[in-house]
Amino acid sequence: MTKVTISIIKADVGGWPGHSTVHPRLMEIAREMLSKAVKNATIKDFHVTHCGDDLELIMSHEKGDNNQHVHELAWNVFKEATKEAKSLKLYGAGQDMLSDAFSGNVRGLGPGIAEMTFTERKAEPIIAFLMDKTEPGAFNLPIFKMFADPFNTAGLVIDPNLHPGFRFEIWDIMESKKVMMSSPEEMYDILALVGAKERYVIKRIYPKKDGKLPADEPVAVISTEKLYKIAGEYVGKDDPVATVRAQSGLPALGEVLEPFAFPHLVSGWMRGSHNGPIMPVSVKNAMCTRFDGPPRVVGVGFQLSNAKLIGPVDLFDDPGFDYTREKAQWVADYMRRHGPFEPHRLPLADMEYTTLPNVMKKLKDRFQKVE
Ligand code: 13P
Ligand code: 13P
Ligand code: MG
Ligand code: MG
Repeated sequence: MTKVTISIIKADVGGWPGHSTVHPRLMEIAREMLSKAVKNATIKDFHVTHCGDDLELIMSHEKGDNNQHVHELAWNVFKEATKEAKSLKLYGAGQDMLSDAFSGNVRGLGPGIAEMTFTERKAEPIIAFLMDKTEPGAFNLPIFKMFADPFNTAGLVIDPNLHPGFRFEIWDIMESKKVMMSSPEEMYDILALVGAKERYVIKRIYPKKDGKLPADEPVAVISTEKLYKIAGEYVGKDDPVATVRAQSGLPALGEVLEPFAFPHLVSGWMRGSHNGPIMPVSVKNAMCTRFDGPPRVVGVGFQLSNAKLIGPVDLFDDPGFDYTREKAQWVADYMRRHGPFEPHRLPLADMEYTTLPNVMKKLKDRFQKVE
């Protein structure tokens, strides 16, 4: 049976104004180009949206992960959108386009990618989570809760299909290494890693063997590109995206959304250098204003039907998350009062690509030994 591939490929190719949101013209260009790509059968279906200043291409096809034609399509969309962004003099036009040349794959060229290939079930609910003003590790807490925390996901306790738990593929993004771990057996070890979210990030979740779903097909995937590592200097945070499948052997839709009812602290926000709460919002409200934030997450839901994306449903456009948003704003205000002090401002190790090393250089000769 043919497998379906869901590819979310995203880039910031210019903000309007500043780093707040995406100009509608850029989304129009993306829609025009992806419509053509459906006609010429490069992809099956698509949805173009944004979170903050990030242009998000959600695409379905049957060509598998890392397909050259699909990646080239996304690259060309971002190139065209960059041209338009330059002519409108949008802010940071082409920000995430770190290379001039496409060479078969967008990995390492700047855009973020979350891609997974699987056998489409009788009913296949999928959710695209899109974040702005934060980093890939921001997904560690919600993904852990969905697939490993029985206080979040009732099904881990009461659904025999979820009861065996899940396998976690965890990446060390500093050393480019990965490890497979099993929950619940290794839960404390998993937490020892993923609690250090700036270094260890959850990349994929797999079902256990002999369950309802094939054990070699992912049920969740998170983009893990690290922009500053690629560019060698600070060029903006690598605002992450994720795709999660739900129901029938997996967490229910409501169990997938539940972790976002807690606006946990993430790194990013103003100049990518501050900790703050992540606020779940509708697409309409996915605009980063207060101190270029607070960081936001959008959830766009679909049912898949023979690789067609039946949707979108704007999942956080719901009063059920009003209380979370209010709490996020309270926390944002509390954090803001710290101004340039940690833990609002990130610790020194994470400020490597800002002016701080230069401040240290300037002061080097003025430091005297303490007697
Ligand atoms: P329904 O009975 O509405 O299908 O819901 C089942 C379920 O699992 C909800 O979490
Ligand atoms: P982006 O990474 O979303 O472009 O934001 C950069 C920034 O500096 C916000 O203050
Ligand atoms: Mg930007
Ligand atoms: Mg952004």
